[in-house]
Amino acid sequence: MTSNSFKLAPSILSADFGDLRTALDYCKDGGAHWIHIDVMDNQFVPNLTIGPPVVQSLRPYTDKFLDVHMMVIEPEKLVEPFARAGADGITFHVEATDDPPAVINLIRSTGKQVGISLKPGTPLSAIEPYLDQVDLVLIMSVDPGFGGQGYLPGSTDRIAELKARLNELCLDGVIIEVDGGVKLNNARKIVTAGGDVLVAGSAVFGTQDPTKTIKDFYAI
Ligand code: DX5
Ligand code: ZN
Repeated sequence: MTSNSFKLAPSILSADFGDLRTALDYCKDGGAHWIHIDVMDNQFVPNLTIGPPVVQSLRPYTDKFLDVHMMVIEPEKLVEPFARAGADGITFHVEATDDPPAVINLIRSTGKQVGISLKPGTPLSAIEPYLDQVDLVLIMSVDPGFGGQGYLPGSTDRIAELKARLNELCLDGVIIEVDGGVKLNNARKIVTAGGDVLVAGSAVFGTQDPTKTIKDFYAI
């Protein structure tokens, strides 16, 4: 990934759940690479969103990479259902399990992309032991649970710190995904710091013209 290229992953959490097919059309017409699917269980985070049946319903209508972000306890129980439903990438939270390698191996066994995520308050050291086992690290730049929050100060430094560490470990192929409060006016600094994939929910689906907004992101 060159320094000025990145992938946008619009989060459908901020889309109209009564018309998700239109959200898929926006992503297609806008040229988004991924579609970010926020899974919340009202246990790990104080919100409840969608599960495997919605992914299964969306799958036939898009060839985009379906990027499932599991903000759930017992993530191991949902890996295979999401894989069967058509997820392309499955990301779990390091805080949600006492056995991250088991969850990593389970996702790996399904053939899907393996992602690990951490809340803003969790030190990067918590994921260090697993960096050589995953395909992606999802850096939360908001406290997980809701769209439309503000990008937390210090997130950009964390991205740069993770990027430097991955380079030191010769793991520069690990994807850095950044999630929460990403806007047109901070996307460039996030990419420059090391963000490879940027999640944008309200910044895309909260606008009058999501298709145009997606194109605007790719033009930063
Ligand atoms: C928050 C989710 C994010 C969120 C992003 O827990 O993981 O993906 O939907 O929404 P915005 O871009 O509006 O912060
Ligand atoms: Zn997310």
